[in-house]
Amino acid sequence: MYEILLGDITLLRTKTCGELRLAHQGEKVTLCGWVDTYRDHSGVFFVDLRDRYGITQVVFSSQIREESFEQAKSLRSEDVIQVEGTVSPRPEGTANPKHATGEIEVRVEKFTLLNKSVPPPFLPTGFTIPSEDTRLQYRYIDLRRPEMQRSLILRHKMCKLMRDYFDEQHFLEVETPILGKSTPEGARDYLVPSRVTQGSFYALPQSPQLYKQILMIAGYDRYFQIARCFRDEDLRADRQPEFTQLDVEMSFVQMEDIIGIIDGLMKKLCKELLNIDIVTPLPRMCYSEAMERFGHDAPDLRYGMELVDVTDLARETEFRVFKEPAVNGGRVRGINVKGAAEKYSRKDIDELTDFVTSHFGAKGLAWFKVDAEGKPGSPIAKNFTPELLGKICQRMQGKPGDFLVFCCDSFEVTCRTLNGLRRRLAAELKLYDPDKLHLSWVVKFPMFAKNEEENGWTAMHHPFTAPLSEDVPLLYTDTGNVRAQAYDLVINGFEAGGGTIRIHDTKLQSEIFSLIGLSEETAKSQFGFLLDALKMGAPPHGGIALGIDRLVMLFAGLDNIRDCIAFPKTAKAACLMTGAPGTVAKKQLDELAIRSTVVPK
Ligand code: AMO
Ligand code: AMP
Repeated sequence: MYEILLGDITLLRTKTCGELRLAHQGEKVTLCGWVDTYRDHSGVFFVDLRDRYGITQVVFSSQIREESFEQAKSLRSEDVIQVEGTVSPRPEGTANPKHATGEIEVRVEKFTLLNKSVPPPFLPTGFTIPSEDTRLQYRYIDLRRPEMQRSLILRHKMCKLMRDYFDEQHFLEVETPILGKSTPEGARDYLVPSRVTQGSFYALPQSPQLYKQILMIAGYDRYFQIARCFRDEDLRADRQPEFTQLDVEMSFVQMEDIIGIIDGLMKKLCKELLNIDIVTPLPRMCYSEAMERFGHDAPDLRYGMELVDVTDLARETEFRVFKEPAVNGGRVRGINVKGAAEKYSRKDIDELTDFVTSHFGAKGLAWFKVDAEGKPGSPIAKNFTPELLGKICQRMQGKPGDFLVFCCDSFEVTCRTLNGLRRRLAAELKLYDPDKLHLSWVVKFPMFAKNEEENGWTAMHHPFTAPLSEDVPLLYTDTGNVRAQAYDLVINGFEAGGGTIRIHDTKLQSEIFSLIGLSEETAKSQFGFLLDALKMGAPPHGGIALGIDRLVMLFAGLDNIRDCIAFPKTAKAACLMTGAPGTVAKKQLDELAIRSTVVPK
């Protein structure tokens, strides 16, 4: 093996596998990479040589040294080689338009086997993608796949654009501790035992929330950080136990300022990463409107199928399914699945009914198909007068061929069910272009959620969130209807980010704590340092955090965040490659004064 000097960098190659074109014809080059595919055409041996920049065809012929040629013929997938040769146009009719380098090949004059590979469990550019477990176990092979490279490159570019954008706007990136105290996001903490103070634990940050507020009090009025966060919660396609936030905090601001800064960021990301011009300010909707029209606080606005309320009409029937919730404080709401009557057979509807009862706690699914005369038909139609059916159909804007589905239940269950149905039906009926992004804000969330167990209130976001000033008088009289200065960025039906304006007034902060049943003592032991700091010149401040993994997923058009993270965890929060979490030596536990009650299997 020998080394080539390129400028003042010592490299084993002069070019990458993605850069050679016809213009390089006749040049002597040295390439390094992995054997992607190989073909033996008696007397000529072809290898598609791959690195992260692309694929170049290299040709070994018996004109090179006999022993080299024989050695080349034993090359197999994923062997790592170095070749030296001359760039030549491919013979007439053999260009490969699939590769940017497809018009040339490198005729090998010399080659070195840098490392032989055992046969890998799957091929990075093979036709079949193995199970996700196999991909995660052999992540180094999986990360060689072009799709994975694309999402990691996109992620890198996105983070760079974020850093540039905030730097231009005079934000400072400040690192905050990983070994810290429990933060108030409300998920379960990951704990780290202290060896020095046995019996004490650090909590890994669920977000840098408290530190960024302290930074505002310390006068660093524009902070951002690309921050790792840790939450021990049940995982889904859009959730990981460790994930990354773009965390932002600003002083002397109102909601408009934070939203404005993020609008500007999203405009830049869409333009630079996807070449899409988005119109800002992004559209906004109040939380209550989102729940009414879509049944969800992160509505997918790429398609219509809005929820329609027929509770008043449901009171006019004696049909128990419709009447009972309508007269007992519940709701009867439906969606009109336009033109889908023929697409859903009885069997499909039974399946939809199973879906809503098993996933969302619905008691059933009431439905009608609008016939050619514009009359809604269904096994339950006999329970309604023709006149009432007509009114329901009119409210739903039912036209011949439409499929009307209804949920009759509490407000919450109708929201969950119809949101779930709406998303599923839109995907099945391909009602949106998967490559498009729809960005919007949902604002003015409720401050408090009912705490069913303790018959009290909990903070919907976190307890440092400020109420809307016009709602402060309602704090004690109409607590459930107090709205917060809170805002979520929603993209294609996902919550991509969320933030709030914080309370900087100690008296209001104490009132909120007492409303959510947090005793002064508990507040002091959990967040005493912040409460002290709030008394020492806290400016008005607020912020937001965007989920970077989710943003990459959405920008890459993927449907799970594991494909946007180099080394993600499974649904059981395990790393299949390293085997984490694992057991540790008894000595380590003894040092920490910890004894496990689990008997090893
Ligand atoms: P929040 O808890 O809403 O706010 O989190 C902000 C954003 O982080 C992303 N996110 C996640 N992504 C992947 N896996 C997870 N488990 C996960 N949990 C959250 C989401 C979410 O919108 N400190 C506050 C922000 C603030 O008030 O400034 C916070 O963390 O995209
Ligand atoms: P039942 O009288 O319970 O057999 O229900 C008659 C029809 O109404 C069935 O198609 C059920 O799936 C549907 N249904 C029952 N309860 C509800 C409900 N709460 N909301 C919507 N549809 C329902």
